[in-house]
Amino acid sequence: MAEEIKNNRREFLKKSGMVVGFGLMLPVLPSFLSSCSSNSTGPTEITVKISDYPGLSVNGTPVFVSQSGFNSGSPVIVTRVSSSVFTIYSAKCTHEGATVNLPSGSTIRCSQHGAVFSAADGSVISGPANSPLQKFNGTYDSVNNTLLISV
Ligand code: FES
Repeated sequence: MAEEIKNNRREFLKKSGMVVGFGLMLPVLPSFLSSCSSNSTGPTEITVKISDYPGLSVNGTPVFVSQSGFNSGSPVIVTRVSSSVFTIYSAKCTHEGATVNLPSGSTIRCSQHGAVFSAADGSVISGPANSPLQKFNGTYDSVNNTLLISV
């Protein structure tokens, strides 16, 4: 009898522990699931008309570029470095996915929780983000004045 009560109590504690554990996971579940969706199935490349973004006609003026479905729906930050060279980073913060600000000086800040990234290479300067901004490839077509952005 005492052994049966002990077993029932142990079973109860085991099950209630599972319920409490699941309950503790609920607040972080949405961000966990959204981080899993970063590998979504959108287009892996887009073509941008430079004339659609006046900032891209001059060197050193970063602009947000977004096209439906590309980069999981988040914009990318495109900066013309020279006549045919562009830097392209995802504007999706690697902490919890907020859209970062356009570069200011040598840094890119995320207003959501304060992460700071290098505008030169997308690396993390200060957290809470741990990973650099995703970098994209850019191929400029001078004949059509377009930029092919690819993963
Ligand atoms: S989402 Fe950017 S710092 Fe948290």
